[in-house]
Amino acid sequence: MVLWCATCTAPTPPKGIEPEDPGARLYLRHCAICHGAAGDADTVICELLLPRPNPFRQGLFKLVSTTNGMPTEDDLVTTLRRGMPGSTMMSWDWMGEPDLRALARYVRGLAIRGRAESIHQTAAVTGRRLDLTQATAIAERELLPGPTVAIGQTIPPTAATLAQGEQLFLRHCAACHGEDGRGLPQTRDLPTDGTWLWPRDFTAGYLRGDASHAALASRILAGMPGAHMPNTRLAVAETEALVAYVQSLIPEEADRRHVQWRRSLRVARVERLPQDDAGFAKVDAVRLPLTPLWWRQGAVDEVWLRAVHDGAELAVQLQWADATEDDRAVPGRALGDGVAVQFTHEPDPPLFAMGSHDQPVNVWRWHAFDPRETAGITDLLDDTLHARLDSGLGLRTVPRVESTSFHGLDSVAEAAGGGLPLSAKARWADGRWTVTFRRALAARSPREVDLTSAQLVLFAVAVWDGTHDAHAGSKAITTWHSAELAR
Ligand code: HEC
Ligand code: HEC
Repeated sequence: MVLWCATCTAPTPPKGIEPEDPGARLYLRHCAICHGAAGDADTVICELLLPRPNPFRQGLFKLVSTTNGMPTEDDLVTTLRRGMPGSTMMSWDWMGEPDLRALARYVRGLAIRGRAESIHQTAAVTGRRLDLTQATAIAERELLPGPTVAIGQTIPPTAATLAQGEQLFLRHCAACHGEDGRGLPQTRDLPTDGTWLWPRDFTAGYLRGDASHAALASRILAGMPGAHMPNTRLAVAETEALVAYVQSLIPEEADRRHVQWRRSLRVARVERLPQDDAGFAKVDAVRLPLTPLWWRQGAVDEVWLRAVHDGAELAVQLQWADATEDDRAVPGRALGDGVAVQFTHEPDPPLFAMGSHDQPVNVWRWHAFDPRETAGITDLLDDTLHARLDSGLGLRTVPRVESTSFHGLDSVAEAAGGGLPLSAKARWADGRWTVTFRRALAARSPREVDLTSAQLVLFAVAVWDGTHDAHAGSKAITTWHSAELAR
């Protein structure tokens, strides 16, 4: 284990929590960075995320199947398996069932603790004698999941069923979701507290839960208590017709499009690395869904990755759609278009912290221009020049290509030594970036991931859109995927 940073520390459990509990251990490693060690969602990273991570201590959840709005353990496990597409809540399906159950129980424990402490405090104010154990017993009773809603079953989408479902949709749902289920555009930018969003285009597949009968019926009958989606009381036959209608609005498989499952990629070994697009076109591509850290309609939502090696060098090609080429420094814009791939050999690294004190990551990145070259210059320009820069002229510099390592959010990037071991070629054409990285398999510094051995490597991708993403923190990211290099 490499320890590069003497000052960085691991998160510590809040008082009274047993660190031996497997749920606690997993939670602190993977979840606390966003949801807070005590479940308060008060971490630095929360400020960068829309929607905001749930504060579990408030006991509000969106994906529930019960009459009282409390998730069952199965509800929570289902959420952890799928993640919540359209948010940075990734899928944790790579964890085993016992780990997911331990996490679900731990999350519930945080909600109970939050509720118990608030009952205890209220009692103290009103002068009632109630100790924390008694308050916890009350909280446990209160937060017990109620009976599950009566979801009925899938029925064939006949014309009569769909007509009945449409009537119900227009009566109960269209006021918020629009008559076509695409949300009301005028509500898109209305203020929220960040934990919930206005109804979006659910026909595009941005569904926190999936589009199965059980999931949609639960959303309708139980509502989404952590969001502004009310529950609607319906007879079983009505629920069945409405679900059939809502399903008819959602194209098949659309609810799977944005799910951040871990993919595994086999990197083939070839005689000679591809030299051009035609060569790369023969390499299998994997589609990786992207999630913007700060939700916005129209953010880049997928990147295609191809990787191949020749025993000495690895080539990784990334392609994504971007309507505008942002390769020039413009006032008020910190970064142009860009892409980064982070690698690690660690088995279960935290995703968001850019590594951790004991699990460093190696980041390869390319940016269409180097903001360090233009910093200061754009600030000095007078207003006329600013106006011209705003109109798209901009200062052009060489692209920035670097291989760095991070070991935690507060770590400063440490560039790999030994010259520039990494090269990148980029091209923008017809609303699409193609960026190809190349690097020797052997690391030239301990700060870089070595790819010569047969080990599995985990990787994640980030994409910046210079037109929309004003600062380095606003980007679209993938979860960790795994790659194995063929020998
Ligand atoms: C990058 C930040 C991030 C990390 C890491 C993260 N989450 Fe989340 N989580 C979120 C966000 C954001 C939401 C809210 C999504 C929404 O409301 O659309 C959320 C929501 C949830 C919910 C609420 C489900 C509901 O029904 O409303 C649960 C439970 C949850 N996360 C559990 C976990 C667990 C357990 C882990 C660790 C294995 C974890 N999260 C890791 C960002 C994160
Ligand atoms: C008062 C406004 C309102 C009404 C009425 C309403 N919804 Fe919603 N609905 C929302 C909001 C807000 C969200 C998004 C919540 C979030 O993710 O933060 C949502 C989300 C959804 C989703 C997405 C669930 C997911 O998995 O992400 C579906 C499906 C849905 N609503 C269906 C319906 C149906 C069907 C009805 C009518 C029975 C209905 N809604 C009535 C506000 C409403």
